[in-house]
Amino acid sequence: YCQKTADGPKVLVTRKLIEPALQEIKKAFPNVHLDVWPEETTPIPRTVLQEKVSSGVDGIICMLTDKINGDLLKQSPQNKLKVVSTMSVGFNHIDIEACRNHNIKVGNTPDVLTETTADLVLGLTLATSRRFREAIRSVEEGTWGSWSPYWLCGVDVHHAKVGIVGFGRIGQAVARRFLGFDCTILYNSRSEKEEGRKMGASFVDLDTLLRESDIVIPQCLLSEETRNMFNMDAFRKMKPTAIFINASRGEVVDQEALYQALKEGIIRAAGLDVCVPEPLPPSHPLLSLPNCIVLPHIGSASVSTREKMSYMCVQNLIAGLQGQSLPFQVL
Ligand code: DGY
Repeated sequence: YCQKTADGPKVLVTRKLIEPALQEIKKAFPNVHLDVWPEETTPIPRTVLQEKVSSGVDGIICMLTDKINGDLLKQSPQNKLKVVSTMSVGFNHIDIEACRNHNIKVGNTPDVLTETTADLVLGLTLATSRRFREAIRSVEEGTWGSWSPYWLCGVDVHHAKVGIVGFGRIGQAVARRFLGFDCTILYNSRSEKEEGRKMGASFVDLDTLLRESDIVIPQCLLSEETRNMFNMDAFRKMKPTAIFINASRGEVVDQEALYQALKEGIIRAAGLDVCVPEPLPPSHPLLSLPNCIVLPHIGSASVSTREKMSYMCVQNLIAGLQGQSLPFQVL
């Protein structure tokens, strides 16, 4: 592992991070060769990432936009790469099996973004059910006429039945917020959870959740089991008045089916913070639907949370370079 010697470790950071977080790396390894992709909003191109890995880096801080797979890891000379630290809680962009095979530790940034993401889910639910997109447009486009008794009426969030699929940290934080709106919480997960019992949430099978919920919210990890879980079959089981909110991963939804379901009134409306692809092209059919709100994957985007995530991924990186287990270790 890397010592604080004249020849420090080589570290690649795939996006420009805040300087104080980068300073932590320099403090731990004064002779570090720190290679920071200088852009904040543009991902490092694949070919550049490949070149950097094949030039021999000891550690990488990556983003969810960087695919870390077996092909990339193979290019690391003499298995020099020791740690991959992602600035995200989700790690479906990292091939964990391939990292295991190459003896690479993987870290992520759980917990610090839980409450921030849950806030966004609540906000997106309110925006979708109360038709904020259409309302804001009408103001901006000058189609706001006189106050009218039935204009832009949406559906209530208070006292709704909220169905959460996946009841981990974020799912539970989302549930707590809706309890403040006097909602009834249903959830589905691999097994019943003590936390669910304590907050009075009901553990139900997926079909029951889909059939009975007014608001359906996936908060599960993306896996082969959850990919395209929200397909036409699932939308048809939902109430025609149901609101669908997704701030987990776009791939849990069959987007074509969602488009049809929204267009044909199989469900009422959708609010998405994640989609496929990201960014969604402005010409995408989903954006032509008045009953769909799309946000650009900003679930964890508060200043303080992104700062915390920056420090956490740096801590993971440093521990990995020192040959220690990572404070927030996926593998
Ligand atoms: C994550 O961390 O996985 C979110 O999608 C972005 O913060």
